[in-house]
Amino acid sequence: MELTKRPRRLRGNSSIRKLVRETRMSPESLAYPVFFVEGEHIQREIPSLPGQYHWSVDKVPVLVDQCLAHGVSRLLLFGIPDHKDGCASAAYDPNGIIQRAIRAIKAYCPEMYVITDVCMCEYTDHGHCGILTGSEVDNDKTLEVLAKIALSHVEAGADMVAPSDMMDGRVAAIRKTLDEHGHQTTPILSYAAKYASAFYGPFRDAAGSAPAFGDRQGYQMDPHNAKEALKECDLDVEEGADILMVKPALPYLDVLRRVADRYDLPVCAYAVSGEYAMVKAAAAAGLIDEYRVMCESAVSVYRAGADILITYYALELADAMRKGDIG
Ligand code: PBG
Repeated sequence: MELTKRPRRLRGNSSIRKLVRETRMSPESLAYPVFFVEGEHIQREIPSLPGQYHWSVDKVPVLVDQCLAHGVSRLLLFGIPDHKDGCASAAYDPNGIIQRAIRAIKAYCPEMYVITDVCMCEYTDHGHCGILTGSEVDNDKTLEVLAKIALSHVEAGADMVAPSDMMDGRVAAIRKTLDEHGHQTTPILSYAAKYASAFYGPFRDAAGSAPAFGDRQGYQMDPHNAKEALKECDLDVEEGADILMVKPALPYLDVLRRVADRYDLPVCAYAVSGEYAMVKAAAAAGLIDEYRVMCESAVSVYRAGADILITYYALELADAMRKGDIG
């Protein structure tokens, strides 16, 4: 057979396949979401997220050592307070759960890079991501509170804040408040294109943050829309976002690609709780090879243009990258 072009030449063995990989990634590009709860001596598995835990602040050394052992040194923190009210006051309490967790991590390991989720839904008694006026989330009233929350995280030592509420103008409001308090150099990772997704289900169980009534479609994006994601990103860039996030990841790879093509900013994808829980459930049922599906899913997200991946599989993926199975 006279074939001058034989793509298989570059697939002959693992050495050549790894040489010509188009998509490269490293543990440095991973961030690991973790949940902190009140109490002591707690490392309790989260039923909706097998293999993930609720941590009490005194367990920080165990958590941090584990992450570092895998080569993961970026965390995304969520706090689950005991006290919830209408205005999420526990979210900006200087001695709140998240503020104490930040201080404990930084005291134990100053090199651990701490990103905090800035939102109100875990802290409000109604479970919505903002202040209510009647049954509506009041955008502009919410902005003031978000800025206060972000500032309290940075004052506790957070390296970066990540607003996930989808209020209009939140990046500008947070930027202004941080700057006014001398935190000009603290970056904002904006959950810029965050969809109203059923894939957040397991997280809401884990964080106790399901809305008590209604849903989040009045602020999070409609899954039918992709151009609107670009509009959201445009606004966040104008308002001073430093990194843009698309969330969820796998069902929105098209959006990720468009965002990666259009902006010079680093692009982050969040492989959310439902994406993780589905793989876990399918693997537990013996339907798929968990390790290979985890790897292939992560590769897809990077191939679609992500520079950064936030994932509950961060520790296992870091190992896979170091071994060369991916990356
Ligand atoms: C807070 C927030 C949510 C997630 C991240 N930040 C939940 C939501 O918007 O309902 C979801 C993360 C996940 O599902 O893993 N607003």
